Amino acid sequence: MRLRYHAAMGRGAYEHNYTQLHLPELAADAADAAPVRLPLLQTMTEQWAGRFQLIYLDPPFGTGKAYAARVGGTREQSARTIDAYRDDREFEDYLAWLARRLALCRDLLADSGTLYVHLDWHAVHYVKVELDRLFGRKRFLNEIIWCYHGPSPIRSAFKRKHDTILVYTRSADYYFDADAVRVPYDPATVKTFASSPRAGFGKVPDLARGKVPEDWWYFPVVARIHSERVGYETQKPAALLERIVRASSRPGDLVGDFFAGSGTAGVVAARLGRPSILSDRNPLAVEKTLLRLAQLDPRPEVRLWRYCNDPAAEAGR
Ligand SMILES: C[S@@+](CC[C@H](N)C(=O)[O-])C[C@H]1O[C@@H](n2cnc3c(N)ncnc32)[C@H](O)[C@@H]1O
Repeated sequence: MRLRYHAAMGRGAYEHNYTQLHLPELAADAADAAPVRLPLLQTMTEQWAGRFQLIYLDPPFGTGKAYAARVGGTREQSARTIDAYRDDREFEDYLAWLARRLALCRDLLADSGTLYVHLDWHAVHYVKVELDRLFGRKRFLNEIIWCYHGPSPIRSAFKRKHDTILVYTRSADYYFDADAVRVPYDPATVKTFASSPRAGFGKVPDLARGKVPEDWWYFPVVARIHSERVGYETQKPAALLERIVRASSRPGDLVGDFFAGSGTAGVVAARLGRPSILSDRNPLAVEKTLLRLAQLDPRPEVRLWRYCNDPAAEAGR
């Protein structure tokens, strides 16, 4: 895929230019495959079954809300907020809708592949049961808790400030590179071991090598001060995706994200030398992603880039 467009986004603290480009032209430029109509994933399974090493899904969470995006912010036009996508299906419909997609994603995975499904308290417990059914309980690898801070008006409960990422492997023979995601030990741990060789549980860790992260992660949400911000309300931090991509794929492995939003997974995959297949039904998401990909050097390898623009097929979304 060749991308011709460049645009400034996230130029520095509090300064953003969420340039909106003309989608049809961009999509035509980026397409290297026949148009894909919904059911998109079903079409894909026919061509790509068993070929994805890593699939990251960050679908609507079943919140009942609508989400916004920021566009504009050029010299001629000030930035404005517009509707991006709705997450307001009836809950039972939502679960059935997502379950169909999860089953297709399982079939897209390679034998050594891993699926990460990013959700929050609204639906995660229901989806866990469905994933156990689809993959088998033994294939449940991790429940990752992504913690963050942020304002909340809540006064009647604790602030809800974590998401849950469910991780399933296609088989027992899955790929996981613990060394690729090691992090430094906490300074307090280093100090403790420096003060007493008898600290800990009788085993001195390799402090210089760092540790494999726990299954709870802290990364700040993408906020106005962050240069990676592209004006898509549910944009996830690149650092979060980087840990996932490094742990569960090698350079050259195929990565999929079928709720791509602003394209974080594809951007990170490209930076780490992994080709990807991305999709989103929202044209604005496609635009945001294309803008981000266009800024990468070298050019990213993205095998397929289409959204559904067929109203008849949309009805079956
Ligand atoms: C939580 S956002 C993904 C955010 C993304 N991870 C990022 O970092 O920007 C969910 C995305 O799912 C998309 N979506 C909703 N329904 C969809 C469907 N039926 N097929 C494909 N994408 C859909 C929305 O347009 C939205 O961009």
